[in-house]
Amino acid sequence: MKIAVIGTGYVGLVTGTCLAETGNDVICVDIVEEKVNKMKNGELPIYEPGLDVLFDRNIEQNRLKFTTNLAEAIEDAQIIFLALPTPPGGDGRADLSYVLGAAKDIASLVKDYKVVVTKSTVPVGTADKVKAVFKENTLVEVDVVSNPEFLREGVAVDDFMKPDRVVVGTRSENAKKLMEELYAPYVRSGNPIIFMDERSSELTKYAANSFLATKITFMNEVANLCELVGADVDMVRKGVGSDDRIGKRFLFPGIGYGGSCFPKDVQALALSSEEYNYDFRILKAVMDVNQSQKLKIVEKMMNYYKGDVKGKKFALWGLAFKPETDDIREAPALYIIDELIKAGAEIVAYDPEGMENVRKLKGDALAFADNQYQALEGADALIIATEWQVFRNPDFKQMEEKLKAKVVFDGRNLYDLHRMIDLGFYYNSIGRAE
Ligand code: UGA
Repeated sequence: MKIAVIGTGYVGLVTGTCLAETGNDVICVDIVEEKVNKMKNGELPIYEPGLDVLFDRNIEQNRLKFTTNLAEAIEDAQIIFLALPTPPGGDGRADLSYVLGAAKDIASLVKDYKVVVTKSTVPVGTADKVKAVFKENTLVEVDVVSNPEFLREGVAVDDFMKPDRVVVGTRSENAKKLMEELYAPYVRSGNPIIFMDERSSELTKYAANSFLATKITFMNEVANLCELVGADVDMVRKGVGSDDRIGKRFLFPGIGYGGSCFPKDVQALALSSEEYNYDFRILKAVMDVNQSQKLKIVEKMMNYYKGDVKGKKFALWGLAFKPETDDIREAPALYIIDELIKAGAEIVAYDPEGMENVRKLKGDALAFADNQYQALEGADALIIATEWQVFRNPDFKQMEEKLKAKVVFDGRNLYDLHRMIDLGFYYNSIGRAE
């Protein structure tokens, strides 16, 4: 099939590359010429494990192309994906100007029937707004489909190639047929393509992300309670998650959810509910709890140091909002850094992929180490904010030698509590005894 993908951000690039991988002809469009030129030369602008191999292969095979020319890109395309940003606007609601602007540009260029698919996370009713743009601006028949993306950063290729489900919102039989054909190679294992109307599909995406954020937040509250009653959240998590109705995944307590999706989507769903005069109370609680959870480590440190961390030096392992990504958007580490610096502490951080982005954002407000052990040199304590694999089984002897004091505040519960106690560390984690 011939596909155009408008927008080469995270979702656009993964979508375009993975659609080319099953033999489609894909052309990706972006307005930033420099970025397009780099991609034409095989430079992948994001870090995502496994994507580079597919990216190179499909460019080489001429199935994946890049352009700044929208007219050229959509001319032969049967399906046009809109993978444009929907950042929170000034009022916290998703800003649709990129999506609707692109729809208008496409409408002025189409000559024959197209299926236009919204891949970005968009509020309920957006497909109708996109349809209206086409109706106003062209006489050519265009079907607008909602097809939300459920991939996770860090495992995006796997999630796209083998999705648990594909959700397609359309009432057009034509569009349904094309989408079914396009996605057939991805659901060969028997996972479903679920067809529904556009509004249900749009809401499915927000509901899924908000539910997952709620699940994590619930467990974070259970963890906080565990600390007070003397229970171990790891045990509680296993006991609870073994019930199939609850499930084991997304029950790991920590220092709050971050990233470019959960915070934005929970807020957008809560706010858009208000437009329909519905008070989505549980989401307000989720946002509130998550905000304080992000500072849980600082709270624990302030208790330990009796409110005074001035002049103290802390090693920080982990900056990215989660492992296997360089994405630092809404990363809990950033909140921890700000609070500790404000309180007069010094921070030396190490992250396998996220340091460049933090350096750009925070300049020399903190220092960066070449490796995880260098960060520990002379530090009063180690803080762990991201569960990178390399932090899971460290050389405890080196840790002991480099740290000034054997103190660890672990926001991701990486180590066995009893082992840390046996090794003589003061080890403060989430939802477990100190
Ligand atoms: C999330 C969803 O999982 C994807 O299905 C969705 O497509 C994506 O948002 C999106 O809307 O684009 P992502 O933000 O990449 O994916 O990351 P997740 O793996 O879901 O993690 C989100 C946050 O929750 C991270 O800060 C992570 O540390 C935290 N988390 C996750 C926990 O604190 N505990 C858990 O058990 C799981």
